[in-house]
Amino acid sequence: MNIALELPQHAHGIEALLDLSFGPHRTAKTAYRLREGVAPVPELSLIATDDATGALDGTIRFWPILIGGRTPTLLLGPIAVAPHRRGTGLGGALILSGLDRARQLGWRSTLLVGDAPYYSRFGFTRELTRDMAMPGPVELSRFLGLELVPGGLAGAGGLLGRWPAGRPLPGAEAPGTDALGADAAVIDRARQAVATPA
Ligand SMILES: CC(C)(COP(=O)(O)OP(=O)(O)OC[C@H]1O[C@@H](n2cnc3c(N)ncnc32)[C@H](O)[C@@H]1OP(=O)(O)O)[C@@H](O)C(=O)NCCC(=O)NCCS
Repeated sequence: MNIALELPQHAHGIEALLDLSFGPHRTAKTAYRLREGVAPVPELSLIATDDATGALDGTIRFWPILIGGRTPTLLLGPIAVAPHRRGTGLGGALILSGLDRARQLGWRSTLLVGDAPYYSRFGFTRELTRDMAMPGPVELSRFLGLELVPGGLAGAGGLLGRWPAGRPLPGAEAPGTDALGADAAVIDRARQAVATPA
């Protein structure tokens, strides 16, 4: 398994995997309101491919958003793993690789809407989103947050909103972001962390 940055030629395969995993009506979900007209963070748009065949087996993206119009954070997702590869640690490796890179880029937190029984193993909790609101209907028990640095969501609250056009992303101009290239060490650390949750 290889984790790498998504490239334009992967777009079609990613859409097919997302349709297969979430169905064709996935864009009606509230989380998509926060993605409209905004690009995902390029350094955090990752794919997993099969070493032998090169087949696209997994995708994860993160969108930049603002909490209460002022606190930058990330919205994790969508993430999907090909059905025949689920349960082999791929989802965990994509998530931990993404979170690791996000921290390196200077992001302080991330939010998501998803299954708490899965995401709690990575540290996501409902507690951290209690002062926040999604811009539409959402099952509140699935609205979760994670601090990437201590206090990363301290004082954050209010309505989640789209990232303003033209606003620079954290880390976008930081030197050495190409050091974020996927490598075996990152993936191994991610695998170990999933195998031995704190
Ligand atoms: C969710 C998903 C990305 C996880 O990827 P994966 O590669 O199967 O995950 P991993 O191999 O890292 O982890 C597997 C473990 O997570 C558990 N798990 C997977 N999905 C879960 C869920 N929705 N709720 C609770 N646990 C879940 C598995 O039972 C397994 O548990 P175990 O480690 O105790 O055996 C993948 O199942 C998928 O693509 N699902 C369809 C799309 C989707 O639901 N995306 C997430 C939106 S919330």
